Amino acid sequence: ALVSMKEMLIKAKAEGYAVGQFNINNLEWTQAILQAAEEEKSPVILGVSEGAGKYMGGFVAVVHMVKGLMESYGTTVPVAIHLDHGSSFAKCKEAIDAGFTSVMIDASHHPFEENVKITSEVVEYAHAKGVSVEAELGTVGGDEDGVIGGIIYANPEECRKMVELTDIDCLAPALGSVHGPYKGEPNLGFKEMEEISKLADLPLVLHGGTGIPTKDIQRSISLGTAKINVNTENQIEATKVIREILDNDKVVYDPRKFLGPAREAIKATVIGKIREFGSAQKA
Ligand code: G3H
Ligand code: ZN
Repeated sequence: ALVSMKEMLIKAKAEGYAVGQFNINNLEWTQAILQAAEEEKSPVILGVSEGAGKYMGGFVAVVHMVKGLMESYGTTVPVAIHLDHGSSFAKCKEAIDAGFTSVMIDASHHPFEENVKITSEVVEYAHAKGVSVEAELGTVGGDEDGVIGGIIYANPEECRKMVELTDIDCLAPALGSVHGPYKGEPNLGFKEMEEISKLADLPLVLHGGTGIPTKDIQRSISLGTAKINVNTENQIEATKVIREILDNDKVVYDPRKFLGPAREAIKATVIGKIREFGSAQKA
């Protein structure tokens, strides 16, 4: 069923696992993730960046595609359609009006007071429609669809205030994670994560899930992380398969001959993450 993230994340935090947010790019991505979640009986969050939303034909097209697949597949697990790194109130509103069940307002590059103000406006509009809201503090490193940043650690005291002032459903405190592959091992701020978890009693979100070792995933979950975002890893695995097929077969032209195997690669990757995050059999 199409739902907001609220209940799934409260349950995940209480039971000590994390729900994966897997970003979608097209039909095959969406199929793969829905199939993986259903087979694993896991709740799942479909992440849609503004760029990917535009690529797929706009937010309305995305919602219809997801609903269409869920109906065809007879999906029973909880699914959220979530705007990833929403850049403004207007973009969040557009996604909500199109039928998204969840949005992230990423006003983290604004000064704190401004971030709180924009986030509050989004929460007010979203909650009136039963839509959940994620906010961000600090800066995730790397580059995702033009969301570029050098790593800035979230300030725990600001996290406490943000939660107190805005009624958000979950918070992404940037603590050293990076969009895209890591250069070397990630250096996550677990001390700050623990502090934030004590100060702010709500599910935390970990961005930049690609390339984070299992021990760090487990530690993050034990410190209140209930949502983990993964995008790049699926892209790498899908592209690897396509490249191999095209390298080995210079005459293939039916797109299903390489997009089908790419879809299988995404599905296998998502199943691996679902098991690693502990959300299998939790739907
Ligand atoms: O918002 C999406 C994520 O934070 C994805 O990060 O591409 O490094 O897996 P990733
Ligand atoms: Zn992110």
